[in-house]
Amino acid sequence: MTDLFDFQAHANRFAVMGNPVEHSQSPRIHRLFARQFGIDMEYRRIQVDTGGFAQAVSHFAARGGAGLNITVPFKVEAWQLCRRPGNRLSARARHAQAVNTLRFDRKRALFGDNTDGIGMIRDLENNLGWGIAGRRVLVLGAGGAVRGVAGALLERRPDSLTIANRTAPKAQALAGRLSADGFGGNGIGVAGCGYQQLERTAFDLIINGTSASLGGGLPEMDAGCIGTHSVVYDMMYAGSPTVFMRWACANGAGQASDGLGMLVEQAAASFHLWHDRRPDTAPVISALRATLST
Ligand code: ATR
Repeated sequence: MTDLFDFQAHANRFAVMGNPVEHSQSPRIHRLFARQFGIDMEYRRIQVDTGGFAQAVSHFAARGGAGLNITVPFKVEAWQLCRRPGNRLSARARHAQAVNTLRFDRKRALFGDNTDGIGMIRDLENNLGWGIAGRRVLVLGAGGAVRGVAGALLERRPDSLTIANRTAPKAQALAGRLSADGFGGNGIGVAGCGYQQLERTAFDLIINGTSASLGGGLPEMDAGCIGTHSVVYDMMYAGSPTVFMRWACANGAGQASDGLGMLVEQAAASFHLWHDRRPDTAPVISALRATLST
């Protein structure tokens, strides 16, 4: 564990914990939000060793920490911590089985939330103007990133949600759990499959939630799933269009976006949980985009 617990006296202490964490944009985003309201706060990156997460959280709380963002690979551990007696979870974190935001309440009790889903929904609907209700939605991947957003997508009442994954049983298990949680009600078709079993008809909204692009790869799906009316979203972000966005556009997709807006929107929802204020996200997205593109 790093020695980043060495804080100056400060009333409003926040941090992001993960491993690796050195490239996290969260400190910058939260400082830009805080400036909008004249809030004086401290926000740091804390790199935590595998096996040291629970201890790092209690250490941070003991030093007067007010809230934490949790990133890879600790979101599931954070969820497990919040399931312990005395701690609490939001409904969306319970459904996602992962926590990306912790708030320390009285007597250092933890409240765990997951703002990834609402962050993506706000980016899709408010920033990009892409509707979800009544649409045929395809999500690629069935790992932690997809678990974090699937419930929020279903709450927007798409016509159907298809989850496709390289390892098909993982997609089927996730679809089954979402249905069992009551998300598949009201006539929404929820299904899980492998890429080879995907219907070759164009989906309205296609979301890449795999980590394939980290290695410059693509999920092995058929381009028949893309039509000119399809809009394509990559949960990853980069300075230039991601490999998935480029592939989708080359195969006829109408529009494509990366996930930079989701990053800022999930941070805004965390900020609201901690400070009870809703920051203006547009200037922060523009500021980050400007740096990324240089
Ligand atoms: P995360 O928290 O980022 O979702 P994860 O839980 O390890 O990370 O999940 C990674 C996801 O990306 C999985 O859906 C994985 O597919 P498998 O379940 O079959 O492993 C998917 N993925 C990773 N590399 C991939 C690749 N090269 N092609 C297709 N899918 C890939």
